[in-house]
Amino acid sequence: MAKPNKEREQGDDVRCPGTSWQELLDLEEVDVPAYLRENTCPYMGDEDLDVSRYLSREFHEAEKQKMWSKVWQMACREEDIPEPGDHFIYEIHDESVLITRSEDNKIRGFINSCLHRGRMLRNESGCVNEFRCPFHGATWDLQGKFKGIPCEWDFRHLKGRDMSLPEVKVDTWGGFVFINFDRNAPSLEEYMGVMPKHFERFPLHDYYKAVHVQRVVQCNWKVGAEAFMESFHTVETHQQILTFTGDANSQYDTFGDNVSRSVTPMGVPSPHLSGITEEDIMRDILELSGRMGKDSAEGLDMPDDLTARKFVAEANREVFEEAANEKFPEATMAELEDAILYSLFPNFQVWIGYHGNIVYRFIPNGDDHETCLFDVMILMRYPKGAERPPAAPVHRLADDEPFANAQELGALGPVFDQDDSNMPSVQRGMKASHKGKVSLASYQESRIRHLHQTLDKYLKA
Ligand code: FES
Ligand SMILES: [Fe+2]
Repeated sequence: MAKPNKEREQGDDVRCPGTSWQELLDLEEVDVPAYLRENTCPYMGDEDLDVSRYLSREFHEAEKQKMWSKVWQMACREEDIPEPGDHFIYEIHDESVLITRSEDNKIRGFINSCLHRGRMLRNESGCVNEFRCPFHGATWDLQGKFKGIPCEWDFRHLKGRDMSLPEVKVDTWGGFVFINFDRNAPSLEEYMGVMPKHFERFPLHDYYKAVHVQRVVQCNWKVGAEAFMESFHTVETHQQILTFTGDANSQYDTFGDNVSRSVTPMGVPSPHLSGITEEDIMRDILELSGRMGKDSAEGLDMPDDLTARKFVAEANREVFEEAANEKFPEATMAELEDAILYSLFPNFQVWIGYHGNIVYRFIPNGDDHETCLFDVMILMRYPKGAERPPAAPVHRLADDEPFANAQELGALGPVFDQDDSNMPSVQRGMKASHKGKVSLASYQESRIRHLHQTLDKYLKA
């Protein structure tokens, strides 16, 4: 039996019947790393959440002023700006930041607004030798130092003033560039808590961004982020994956204020189904998951003495080792096939494991609290010693375009379309609600409660 969680005060042994993820770890044939054995989800209460948290302009303004201005936000990948002069524009609310690689190879974040009359210095990401404002030609070097403006005789009053481009705080982790608008914010390392330690086996900075798809979703950013924080919805929304997804046997963890995790076992049937054979699992997981090394069971014969979970893990190991030109003898079945998804408050989500690591991010769409911008990336390994493939550019889908149109997402595209069949309808349905509250599952939606409780700490600070 899984160890009951000592910290949880209420409902501490209320779990779905069936094999828990910790019990699956007991079946591993290699050492299980300590980070997988952590199982920590303190009871956080069961109160309803008011729908105004998703609908009201006042709540959005409070988030903007008290939360977004203080948190670390993933802005782009380091590989999006590989050369000096490369810059990537990150925008949220009315903010616009030029994430720039300078000649000293340092990454800086400049406010994208000319110190003359305020024009955006750059309208698009790209590469320049210097930042020259397209309006009257005021110019800054790549380190943000003011170089001059035409007709300097007319600006004698600016002499002696600091005309450097204002900067935001920048740091990197795992090949991601994070920014923080609060110059006094704690370091990114401190903010990330256990995450860097948990990702030690997965050096994301060594992987490359093979896929980057972006689309507006018609809902508040939290409705979007929360759609990926529980596996409970699989039973209704993604029924095609139930034969090989232990949805209700997922484990949910929280680590401090900023980090949470869900783990959904794969290669085992949903506890909602009965009579599923190992052959059913193997056939469906290879054909329908979109997350496995192979995408068809054709021609594969599963030996009688292997479970589908073990068989698929070994098939994945072979494919992943070949792709990386590296051996992974220490890899657990969990790391070879399960859905192990971390999130860093407020909105950065990333998968752990040897397969392509999926990344999600939901931010407000400009200053609109009723729509959000959804980015999905997939990080891939490439053969050790080979040249790093170029990062995929952002593939922006039209607002009404299905994710299935992004072929590079493979089987994930149609799955996101299933999620997208809910997100705008959640936003609309909340408006129609006479209850005016949402009621969360006590355990399976604990990561959502965790997000709101951390958010409240900022709002009440
Ligand atoms: S607004 Fe930039 S130079 Fe005038
Ligand atoms: Fe989903």
